[in-house]
Amino acid sequence: MEKRKKFFVTTPIYYPNAKPHIGTLYSTLLADIFARWHKSIGKETFFLTGLDEHGQKIQEAAEKNNVGYQDFVDSMVPPFTQTWQDFGLEYNDFVRTSSEIHKKTVIKIFEKLIAKNMIYKGIYEEFYCVHCETFVAEDQDAKGTAICLSCQRPAKKILEENYFFKLSEFQKKLLHFYDSHPNFIEPSNRMNEVISFVKAGLKDLSITRKNVKWGIPFPADPTQTIYVWGDALTNYISAIGYESNPEMFAKFWPADAHIIGKDIVRFHAVYWPAILMAAGLELPKKLVVHGYILVNNQKMSKSLGNAIDPEELLAKFGQDAVRYYLAKQMAITQDGSFDFEELKNCHNADLANNLGNLVNRITTLASKNNCTSISPIEPKDADCKELFAKTSQTIKSFIKHMDNFLVHMAIIEVVELCSAINTLIHKKEPWKLAKINPSLFQEVIQTSAQALNLASSLLYPVIPSKIKLLKKCLIKDSEFSLSAENINTDVWQQNLELSIPQEVLFGKLEYVDQITPEPETQKDSVQEKNVLTKNISFEELAKVQLSIGKILVAEKVLKSDKLLRLEVDFGSLGKKQVVSGIAEHYKPENLIGSKAVFVTNLAPRKIMGLESQAMILAAKDGANFSICQPEKDLILEGTILS
Ligand code: MSP
Repeated sequence: MEKRKKFFVTTPIYYPNAKPHIGTLYSTLLADIFARWHKSIGKETFFLTGLDEHGQKIQEAAEKNNVGYQDFVDSMVPPFTQTWQDFGLEYNDFVRTSSEIHKKTVIKIFEKLIAKNMIYKGIYEEFYCVHCETFVAEDQDAKGTAICLSCQRPAKKILEENYFFKLSEFQKKLLHFYDSHPNFIEPSNRMNEVISFVKAGLKDLSITRKNVKWGIPFPADPTQTIYVWGDALTNYISAIGYESNPEMFAKFWPADAHIIGKDIVRFHAVYWPAILMAAGLELPKKLVVHGYILVNNQKMSKSLGNAIDPEELLAKFGQDAVRYYLAKQMAITQDGSFDFEELKNCHNADLANNLGNLVNRITTLASKNNCTSISPIEPKDADCKELFAKTSQTIKSFIKHMDNFLVHMAIIEVVELCSAINTLIHKKEPWKLAKINPSLFQEVIQTSAQALNLASSLLYPVIPSKIKLLKKCLIKDSEFSLSAENINTDVWQQNLELSIPQEVLFGKLEYVDQITPEPETQKDSVQEKNVLTKNISFEELAKVQLSIGKILVAEKVLKSDKLLRLEVDFGSLGKKQVVSGIAEHYKPENLIGSKAVFVTNLAPRKIMGLESQAMILAAKDGANFSICQPEKDLILEGTILS
């Protein structure tokens, strides 16, 4: 285990053009877990997250909403901080790239690069994806128009006079760095991808933009703004005092881990190290790259319209079940499918049955038999010794996995330890021993309680609020810490005071009502309710095909409270299947035979495995909800607006 006494962990800073979703929650949760772990073993930790507020994407989102840029980004802060708070994410700082200190830092770094002759003026010609704030090569498109590989949107051709960072000069230095730091990227296969990319040759990087207003002015030519990635990456040093607090900066830099999704590896593994090298700064210790959370085999994202709102999940399952599921079930190194049934099963098996029952059993047995004060012991019984050995093994493996940032593997170690404690209790039947062999009874309870105390400490970073409650049943003063020095020896040997839980710690999740992913157009921006949208022309309106349809079939979608499946007759347009979130407002039988207005030229979309080929129009006023229906019994003549 690393002996250093500090731990600085970061998340990507998120684009505030949409509320957080489970994907962004996942990155932030991982950072929270690692920060809590390092803190609990005695390190001074700093956990940084925040927002990436500049650039064309945000500029366009603000303009679309008719709001000033700063007002727009200001309004997007609460949805993030609220969700992070709701999920118990205890960051030390929430960096915002529109803050004065961040802007000052970026300018200082760029002035340094200019002074070192690392930046020059040139002509920039490339394809740029506004959505991803990145470039795509021209040859990536089969039809002649460049398409962004990540989001599949068309990319813009850009030809302008820009300033370039001499990235090409860093090829050798970067390759040397990767060679001498083979564990720089976790998992290692990502490292190989980066090495191949750099070996193929590095082009100089266009580092300013002429047409982006919403950004930090480039110091040598304020008519241009700094490229959003050059601005954003600098957050990792601006937030820890590079410009404002040298002592703090010296303490925490370099970062011990940048947690990032696999989509942004190149920025962190190539551009960021090169900028740091050019500025004469140390490089981060590690990039921890996680996979995507998938829904219906696609990356979950706002723009793909399949994002799940973390707040809805929280309301249905609670903080700990969601934290536990994401941390254990999504193998950090791979993509993982989000599955409600799995979330329920994982919570019930590991937390309600395995851990929760264990707490009840041990504390009840101890309380009934006057054995609530537990002191450190050296077990003599063979089975108790075996559990003792298992506990030491768990500590070792847990630390190894956490050092490698494999949180899902670390959790499995704790689950297995809990199973081993349960096995000891089954085998020894202490309820019988209490009468016939009180000293063995005591040994079994002591060993089990000590092992349970350790298991709960190890799980603390993953489900902190539930573990705090659980600790109240094990120790008098529920403030606890593990210490890096003695974690291998006496950490599970403490004085305990057992008491029966006053409330159900991990209530079983019985029924899972699925949450429908929310399309971007319906709920994407918190701005949309308050802001007047721009006028559109008749031609734009005419692109929307509105049609009267007659509902022939209406039925509930299995496992969903909200969705109805409709079969709708559109006359000359034929019949279409529509999946709509109106089940809470309409009984299926009342809809059959009625007519309503639908959008019939929206791209089809899969909702819970069913293709929805049109969208019913509806309006909502508080609790009042109504689908839009023609006042008269119009015949089905296809479109009503074309
Ligand atoms: N602003 C840049 C990052 C700058 S860091 C200096 C950015 N922002 S983002 O809002 O698009 O968020 C990107 C990060 O969110 C991903 O790298 C990943 O960490 C997380 N995720 C977004 N969607 C995700 C999934 N579906 N699954 C898992 N994580 C994903 O890129």
